[in-house]
Amino acid sequence: MNTFDYTICPPDLDPTRLPRHVAVIMDGNGRWARRQGFPRIAGHRQGAHTLKDLVRCCKDWGIPALTAYAFSTENWHRPLEEVDFLLVLFERLLRQELAAMDREGVRLSFIGDLSPLPSSLQQEMTHAVQATAHNQVVHFSVAVNYGSRAEITHACRQIAQQVQQGQLRPEAVDEQMLEQYLYTAGTPDPDLLIRSSGELRLSNYLLWQLAYTEFYFTDVLWPDFDRAAFHQALWHYQERDRRFGTLKHQEPESRAG
Ligand code: IPE
Ligand code: IPE
Ligand code: MG
Repeated sequence: MNTFDYTICPPDLDPTRLPRHVAVIMDGNGRWARRQGFPRIAGHRQGAHTLKDLVRCCKDWGIPALTAYAFSTENWHRPLEEVDFLLVLFERLLRQELAAMDREGVRLSFIGDLSPLPSSLQQEMTHAVQATAHNQVVHFSVAVNYGSRAEITHACRQIAQQVQQGQLRPEAVDEQMLEQYLYTAGTPDPDLLIRSSGELRLSNYLLWQLAYTEFYFTDVLWPDFDRAAFHQALWHYQERDRRFGTLKHQEPESRAG
């Protein structure tokens, strides 16, 4: 049994070497529910509690950015009742949690193609983004109807249009420019990716942005991914030797430029 006080950053972590941006693939809600004899949606409800606490944990421990995969472009292929439940859950959570998140200094963003979402949900999202735009403690991004291939394709199409209109020379297209057309423009790449539930794949998540990210996979199902599990992930992250193609350890900050 550990005796950590998880309201603060655990003392065996180096607070100066925490990831500046953590990305999570919240997987295993359905299996969690089934194992308890509940319908799958009960797992999504519990998973939402886990996510709320993880945002708060990032604030408490000093991690300035968190991006969570909530709904993929492929998730539309699930049964209609489950898709509907998730969309209603997102909207309810936004309405219920916005004031508290704002108070705690959370800036909310959404990445993905939001246009097919119900208009009431889109309105809540727009409102939440605007209401929290000034906050600086934690940047919390939620990927909804997100697919990395669609994101990159969309960026390429926008750049191609500019070239076609003569506003841009093909030689001027570089990595920095492409990044500006991604949904994540202006956000540093994740330092750490966590996927729960034992699956070892990316499922079309942040393919560009994860180029040099450290990956951490855990068998813990998302609804059980508590602060102790997050502590484990961060501990393993700090054991990694990030070389970025060089021969010695590099801190992400020293790579600027
Ligand atoms: C992740 O849990 C949540 C979403 C994809 C919305 P799952 O619903 O994928 O749970 P499993 O993988 O079926 O257990
Ligand atoms: C990835 O989980 C998407 C989200 C967590 C939102 P899935 O459960 O949809 O991924 P696959 O289908 O197992 O690859
Ligand atoms: Mg899954």
